[in-house]
Amino acid sequence: MDIPERLRNALFGSIIDGLPYFCLERWQSLHENTASIVLSESGVHPLSLLELEEYGVDIHSIHRQEIGYGWTRGSPELRERIAELYGGAAEAEDIVVTNGSAEANFITILATISRGDTVVVDVPNYMQVPGLLKWIEAKTIYLWREPPHWKFPVGKAVELIERYRPRAIFVTDPNNPTGSYMSRGELRELADAANRAGTLLVFDEVYWGSERGEAKDSVVQIVEEGNAVSISGLSKVYGLPGLRVGWVAVKSERIVERLLGVKDYTSIAPSILSDYIASKILSWSNVEKLRRRAKELVERNIEILKKELSNRGGIMEIYWPSAGAFIWAKIPWTLDSLKLAYELFTKYRVLVNPGECFELKGYLRMGIGQKPELFGKSIKFVLSSIEEIQKHYNEG
Ligand SMILES: Cc1ncc(COP(=O)(O)O)c(C=O)c1O
Repeated sequence: MDIPERLRNALFGSIIDGLPYFCLERWQSLHENTASIVLSESGVHPLSLLELEEYGVDIHSIHRQEIGYGWTRGSPELRERIAELYGGAAEAEDIVVTNGSAEANFITILATISRGDTVVVDVPNYMQVPGLLKWIEAKTIYLWREPPHWKFPVGKAVELIERYRPRAIFVTDPNNPTGSYMSRGELRELADAANRAGTLLVFDEVYWGSERGEAKDSVVQIVEEGNAVSISGLSKVYGLPGLRVGWVAVKSERIVERLLGVKDYTSIAPSILSDYIASKILSWSNVEKLRRRAKELVERNIEILKKELSNRGGIMEIYWPSAGAFIWAKIPWTLDSLKLAYELFTKYRVLVNPGECFELKGYLRMGIGQKPELFGKSIKFVLSSIEEIQKHYNEG
């Protein structure tokens, strides 16, 4: 089954000169509303408005909310709640609330990187950051993670920092798509090298709080004032992607000013309704409860998946994640994971993400954050569909 030229172009072509299409988001947007089984999400099953009451949010109080612009940088109450996540390392004035962590990434790049700056980028990655760096013509050095552990290569990063003294290093920690995250010691080693070279550490920490093992610290808790940016949001671990609440945390008045300056060009303000709901839900006890919910969903689905796979040899090799709500899997019998994902969608209405959208062939990323009852049914069908496709590949 050939991939139509139009689709190929929408995934791998350019929007305008220098700005590549964002393969992963395009792939999902084109298919997620017509797929029957959606395993393309990287966060946990979303909460309903009604479920928010279980977290102490009085949804009737929203009725009285005037739908104005609100606070362009996020309300003081919401920024206070967000700052608390950093355990004393950040304050409300260090927070800029954005429309999802996607906007946080966008404004951070425009506020900190200029054309021609040398930057180092963690790959594979959610490819928004590499795409934007290309657009603004930064000199980008890819720092590849490698199987089987997909750990961030701290030693190599230190070498690159010492050699090139880059303007910034962009890391997604915990990483999407590999689910690996750095230990405190590794983070400290990286931070020391970055401080010596004056390199800004920009960490996308949208999966922070989903660690299956030892809890991770934010980069802002480890690094000297002003030299680290933490980006995060409520979409993944907290099950609230539709609020579109993300943020940047940085202890630098200069960077905060610039972020606000760029945000005036993008969205002006977060939605006042989202700001209100987020500020009510982000009490510390709710944060713990929501993180627990996310981990429980993932653990139960991992168990289900392991059991299902034990009866089916050789269709995929899974790198079990240390965090996140997705798995990263090698497909040992084909390098053409785009074709596999396309066939899964067109023949079986199953949506998973092809490795090609992470610039790696022969891999799939699949979500494991759904409700286990549904996941159990879906995964059986998905694995059987992959087996059928594999059979045809072998025959053909
Ligand atoms: C690493 C990473 N950053 C940012 C985003 C954007 O998420 P949102 O804008 O919903 O917070 C995603 C979404 O998949 C992601 O994986």
